[in-house]
Amino acid sequence: MPIVIHHANEVLTLASEKKGPRTKDAMSELKILKGVSVLLVEDKIQAIAPLDELERRYPLLMETAETINASGKIVMPGLVDCHTHLVHAGTRENEFNMRLNGASYMEIMGAGGGIHYTTAKTRDASFDELYEKSYNHLNEFFKYGITTVEAKSGYGLDWKTEEKQLKVAKKLQATHKMDVVSTFMGAHAVPKEYKGNEDAFVELIIEEMLPKVAAEGLAEFNDVFCEKGVFTPLQARRILEAGKRYGLIPKIHADEIEPYEGAELAAEIGAISAEHLLVASNEGIRQMAEAGTIAVLLPGTAYFLRAPYARGRYMIDWGVPVAISTDFNPGSSPTISLPFIQNLACIHMGLTMEEVITATTINAAHAINREHSVGSLEPGKRADVLILNVPNYKRLQYFYGMNHTDIVIKAGEVVVRNGAVI
Ligand code: NIG
Ligand code: FE
Repeated sequence: MPIVIHHANEVLTLASEKKGPRTKDAMSELKILKGVSVLLVEDKIQAIAPLDELERRYPLLMETAETINASGKIVMPGLVDCHTHLVHAGTRENEFNMRLNGASYMEIMGAGGGIHYTTAKTRDASFDELYEKSYNHLNEFFKYGITTVEAKSGYGLDWKTEEKQLKVAKKLQATHKMDVVSTFMGAHAVPKEYKGNEDAFVELIIEEMLPKVAAEGLAEFNDVFCEKGVFTPLQARRILEAGKRYGLIPKIHADEIEPYEGAELAAEIGAISAEHLLVASNEGIRQMAEAGTIAVLLPGTAYFLRAPYARGRYMIDWGVPVAISTDFNPGSSPTISLPFIQNLACIHMGLTMEEVITATTINAAHAINREHSVGSLEPGKRADVLILNVPNYKRLQYFYGMNHTDIVIKAGEVVVRNGAVI
């Protein structure tokens, strides 16, 4: 049944004639409409216009449509979470406590915990266990207004488990209403069995895993954790270049803990995005701006690891297109609340209220090649629409750490009502 949303205080469209991710001042252009209704037909946005105009243009559709009264509320595009480690087993609250008592993230990982702990759990978990856990996470994402989620593998570090994770993501895409976009991240860590023999693991990824990912159509993107003690820039480059030959688009976990010229590498090899960038160099940032590499910033990780925040303000001022995401994972950012992450980006990265909205909608869509279907409210795009319990968008950041979601419409279907998944 068509849906028509009336009387919203503000409709944030983020529409633009210009192509490409938004940069500089364009990140502040929310293109807000007032006094309009939004007509959704099947899974698409049909039109956004004053009510009398819609009635004139679409008399039949308007007569049969379900009407939603959004009076006193705002309407905006569904949020896009463009960097998550959705499919994994277990939790790591004990490590969090160890970190509160002084241990560092890399120390815990070096001692066989961290990513290695989750890898062991994920290897042990059955397909169905992983599927069910991830399915429930996706329902939580819906509650916070997220309608598209990227999901990285990387807690297998052997083909059997990497394939299991990617197949879980594929089944979720087929069975859950959420859109799930898949990234292969076999190079998330060097597994224990390859310690001291790192290059052999790099060979395994290049020679065996990447061809299978491509042949089975299991991912669109290829990501590497380029970090001291994990993968060197040279190893990362080899893995990402090899992925390109199989049509996998490069992404990089870059300059997260120590500067390692990850931003420079991302710009040079034409990665769609460099992610984290807590300690990226000025030169790397300049090169990203020139290459148009999207910076996917993850302030939840800096918060939870008590690390310095990425220099979001500086990046935007230099012309880097910025996206913001949760990095949802069991170690460095166990949260699904993208609204809270937006607030961290305002407070700790110096982004404005407008910029964080752009960074979690259209720019995040660009970071996963979904800008043609989601990230803004424009006729012909997917009907992924939020109705939020606030009278203006500024209230979202002001009443922080709260969930303002009232209704979530995913591909033309109401999936959350009164803040609850239906
Ligand atoms: O993006 N940096 C590497 N990977 C994840 C953390 C994974 C984990 O700790 O389980 C991240 O922060
Ligand atoms: Fe990550």
